[in-house]
Amino acid sequence: MNMNTKCTLFLLGTAALTLTWAGVARVTAQELDPETKARVERFEKGPATIDVSKYPDGIKDNYEVFSTKCAQCHKLSRPINSDYARPDEWSRYIKRMMNKPGSGISSTEGKKIYEFLTYDSSIRKKAMLDEKLAKATPEDKAAVETKIKEVHDKYDKK
Ligand code: HEC
Repeated sequence: MNMNTKCTLFLLGTAALTLTWAGVARVTAQELDPETKARVERFEKGPATIDVSKYPDGIKDNYEVFSTKCAQCHKLSRPINSDYARPDEWSRYIKRMMNKPGSGISSTEGKKIYEFLTYDSSIRKKAMLDEKLAKATPEDKAAVETKIKEVHDKYDKK
């Protein structure tokens, strides 16, 4: 093997390694489509905490679970300022997050987070929720209201 061949082989090897690493990095990074990326960036610009001082004690406890578990991969401001407000939107999305590798959210914790977000949305996001329900069918609206009532009945002081 002459010097030129060795040199070419070395360069080829380096190029192959570089390509491999670029591939690994692309798969590892959380690649979001441009629309989702813009949306989550907008959410994350908003407040990163919720004033829970007027909420019942049990909901305050659930806020602790939410603020620990849902800030592991992204800012808590992402769910806080998101477009979700309906109980079914929350249960679907919490399940989606629970299924992400390494989320470490148990079903008990998932339920507490659901109850927190349903309760909180019924108060803090009331305008958004009313707007969504105005577009719903009467049956759909009634089903959503039943789910919200269930959470309030469980936590509000009688
Ligand atoms: C294991 C990492 C991980 C954890 C834990 C996690 N998320 Fe996420 N979350 C992501 C990723 C990745 C995305 C963006 C892609 C997607 O939507 O799947 C995201 C996106 C979101 C969005 C934006 C959805 C949109 O597209 O508008 C919301 C809202 C959200 N998460 C809420 C939560 C809530 C609530 C929890 C706690 C139950 C949580 N996340 C926990 C990884 C995580």
